[in-house]
Amino acid sequence: MTRATYSEARLADHVDRLGAEHPPIDLASVDFTVRRPDELNHRYGHVLDYMARVELEVDRNVLELTTLLPDPPAIDRRFYADVWQPQEIRHGLILDELQVQLGRPAATPDLTTVGAKLRVLGALAHLTAFQDVCRMLYYLTGMATERSAVLAYNLLHDGVAAMGETAVAQTVIAPIRRQEPGHYAFYMLSARGLWQQLAGWQRWTVRRMRALSFAPVGANDARQAADFGAVMRSLHAGAPDDFAEQISRVERDLLWAHRSGLRVPPYVAKAFREAVELAHLRRPA
Ligand SMILES: [Fe+2]
Ligand SMILES: [Fe+2]
Repeated sequence: MTRATYSEARLADHVDRLGAEHPPIDLASVDFTVRRPDELNHRYGHVLDYMARVELEVDRNVLELTTLLPDPPAIDRRFYADVWQPQEIRHGLILDELQVQLGRPAATPDLTTVGAKLRVLGALAHLTAFQDVCRMLYYLTGMATERSAVLAYNLLHDGVAAMGETAVAQTVIAPIRRQEPGHYAFYMLSARGLWQQLAGWQRWTVRRMRALSFAPVGANDARQAADFGAVMRSLHAGAPDDFAEQISRVERDLLWAHRSGLRVPPYVAKAFREAVELAHLRRPA
């Protein structure tokens, strides 16, 4: 079995398992009981809003995908349609309902704007060799996004549990965070498999384009980057370089294996530092 076929078989097993073991969260299983709504809102209201928006924007991500990848592999289509989109949209709806119950306005996700850069990439992606560059970029983004989600939900879960908000911790955050590692693994396996198949010029192009386009999850402009920085601060996510390192290890090992001793890709570290600085400029700690 070649390496490509082996990773394809693993991916198919993985998607089957996710579909069977992780149905979308049943809304009836969620208990929105909150002991101290004002306190929870004060500490984590904006965190819930950011996460709800990003989760709900999965519908725009699917639009972006169809623009970016006119001809995706069948396994990708199955993952997006059967696992990823149905799970993420439920995460968004649940988090949004929680913030509304805390007295906050509902999230305002952008469900339709596909940026000009992506449309240009999509046009180029009709060339098969370039489509693989786009796919690789998409897997890298998915990996960073899902790893960020895993870390953020861990921190949010522990923070909410420490406040004594047991219902929210156990029936909102815990079930959501249980589904994120499976998404991460899909993108990680996909990225590892595809990277082995790319030619030298494709790898070079991926590195260049990734360095130019990286942004923390959900941070599409300076205001959202500041929001992201504020989320990191409220979650006590630690030094930006540490968080950046944790979400980009596999990316570093794949793309930058030739740069021995590199702790974190510089564009990832820079984006996280900037987000924290923007949040600090808006509201000093
Ligand atoms: Fe999610
Ligand atoms: Fe996810």
